[in-house]
Amino acid sequence: MANLIPEEKVDQVRSAVNIADFVGQYVQLKKAGKNLFGLCPFHEERTPSFSVNEQKQIFHCFSCGRGGNVFSFIMDLENLSFPEAVVKVADFGHIDLPATYTAQSQPATPKDQEQADLLTLYADSTKLYQHVLLNTTAGEAALDYLHQRGLDDETIKTFGIGFAPPKQLLLDFFKEHQIDYQLLRQSGLFIENQAGELRDRFVDRVLFPIKDASGRVIAFSGRILKKSPDEPKYLNSPETKLFNKRSVLFNFDLARGAIRQRKSVVLFEGFMDVIAAYRAGIQNGVASMGTSLTNEQIYMLERVTDQLYICYDSDMPGQKATDRALKLLSGNSRLKLGVLQMPDGMDPDEYLRSAGAEKFVQVFEAGKQTPTAFEMQYLRRDLNLQNTQDQLTYIGAVLQQLSALSSNVEQDLYLNQLVQEFGLDKEDLRQQLRSLVGQQTVHRQPHGGPPTPPPPVNMTPPPPTITGMAPENGPISRVERAERLLLFRLLHDHDVWLRVMAIAGFHFVHDQYQQILVYAEAYFKTHQQFELANFTDFMGDQGLQPVVTSLEFMDVAGETSKEEVADLVNVIMNQQPVAEKINGKKAELTAAKQLGNRDLVQQLTLELIELYRQAQRVQQADNL
Ligand code: GTP
Ligand code: MN
Repeated sequence: MANLIPEEKVDQVRSAVNIADFVGQYVQLKKAGKNLFGLCPFHEERTPSFSVNEQKQIFHCFSCGRGGNVFSFIMDLENLSFPEAVVKVADFGHIDLPATYTAQSQPATPKDQEQADLLTLYADSTKLYQHVLLNTTAGEAALDYLHQRGLDDETIKTFGIGFAPPKQLLLDFFKEHQIDYQLLRQSGLFIENQAGELRDRFVDRVLFPIKDASGRVIAFSGRILKKSPDEPKYLNSPETKLFNKRSVLFNFDLARGAIRQRKSVVLFEGFMDVIAAYRAGIQNGVASMGTSLTNEQIYMLERVTDQLYICYDSDMPGQKATDRALKLLSGNSRLKLGVLQMPDGMDPDEYLRSAGAEKFVQVFEAGKQTPTAFEMQYLRRDLNLQNTQDQLTYIGAVLQQLSALSSNVEQDLYLNQLVQEFGLDKEDLRQQLRSLVGQQTVHRQPHGGPPTPPPPVNMTPPPPTITGMAPENGPISRVERAERLLLFRLLHDHDVWLRVMAIAGFHFVHDQYQQILVYAEAYFKTHQQFELANFTDFMGDQGLQPVVTSLEFMDVAGETSKEEVADLVNVIMNQQPVAEKINGKKAELTAAKQLGNRDLVQQLTLELIELYRQAQRVQQADNL
């Protein structure tokens, strides 16, 4: 609630944007029953336990227990403050917010503060480097170089490309602006000598900003202008609090929309390839940071698409890398795979420049290979197929490859190719293939074959009891079950609310439910009707949102009754030893303080004192 964006505005944003669309940018959602399911973006998983309920405009993960509305989703995912989240969602829905709201972002903790400072440092550096490139004589040579490589100024701006001049730049600039030395040290933008003195890490290099999934610059990769034997072609920022190269994909932020539109992603080897493709209209491209793909990156991609094309350089090292990537991915992910190869051993960037955009795009439209087709070609690399011995080696290797395919149709297709090329008898080949399939003891997931059906979407999320709690939270007690159901009733049925609130001393046993109750009390003072997505915002970021959201995913009867409510209240009220009552009261007090309700604070304090007296009496009695 500590946001300054008025509630009407927040409501407007929330109701204008469908949570399914917004979350759909990050998670591939599939309809299953009432809800949409997908792989939870907050942790690694292979079967979907992340669910979105469009009707209620909320999400919930049955595995990790996270949940909330559209704002809490993006706050959690990208570590944003509430106002930042509102701005982001508004942006998605093309809703204009006055500039005063968009400027505010108050980091909540020192850790957030440090992160925010680093982000600012990187944002400022990006601007500065780009200014040098575009507007100064120091940047002329670099700008010429980029123009020669086919990048126009618009592209340079889109990617935030800049230039670090031969003479260091950042150190003086940040010193002048009195930026904290420790922050500079941690930024990775400087190299420190033994005396603790800093100097710019990037000099005389074209700088490509590396951005996180929301487009914030978190590192640089600097390309040298002229080849030099003593220096690496690309120099990257070291790992920092912001930058972990295993979990970053170059251009993921810009590509995400296009990945969804085209229902596929293209994985390139180099930054320049991604940028080249982008210029030619192929905007669903990303690159790993010059290393082979990591599990983290695979997870990022799996969440937004089913189909990945590998488009590495078509020279021999590139083909080797393609083969490696196919093997890695086929064993490690459920992505459908394909290969794209530029002609004549070129990398995509070279081919675009030499052949032009039209031909370049054609490769993407007509040049897709299945992994098997690629392997059949790759297996030839060291063989001379005029030679009988090599022919046999080749055919054996291809059959081995085909034996891993799960589709008979696909096997047949490639068998036909072998028959044609080598004039063999198809029955013989088929028999040999069968014997190979028989030998396969381990059933590796085949790459290439038509997709193995995706694991069935978990329609009965575990456990479908009335608790709806995450399984790892363990079975919950009878009391807690009662608390959860009663809280649900209280929120949704105002008659129940009035009845229960009239019971003197009614109180939940567990803090979290009691706190929610206190919030609800305040909420109903200003709101006629309970609306979940709105209520979670009202509570703010107290860690209670997932709890409330999980209530909505409980399997409860539509109607309640007086008896049900009375039973629940009994179960709860008979379960409170004084110590628990004290804890509950304390929680209530904290919540009341946070809400700034002074009368309530006073009243609760008195009640708490009374409880302490009771506890003392109990203890005295015990000591008798
Ligand atoms: P250009 O020569 O500018 O076209 O580069 P490229 O995009 O064709 O890159 P290349 O195919 O040579 O390398 C692919 C990727 O590997 C680059 O985008 C970098 O991420 C990474 N890489 C290449 N050289 C180096 C290096 O010297 N150091 C590091 N750390 N990474 C490198
Ligand atoms: Mn290149």
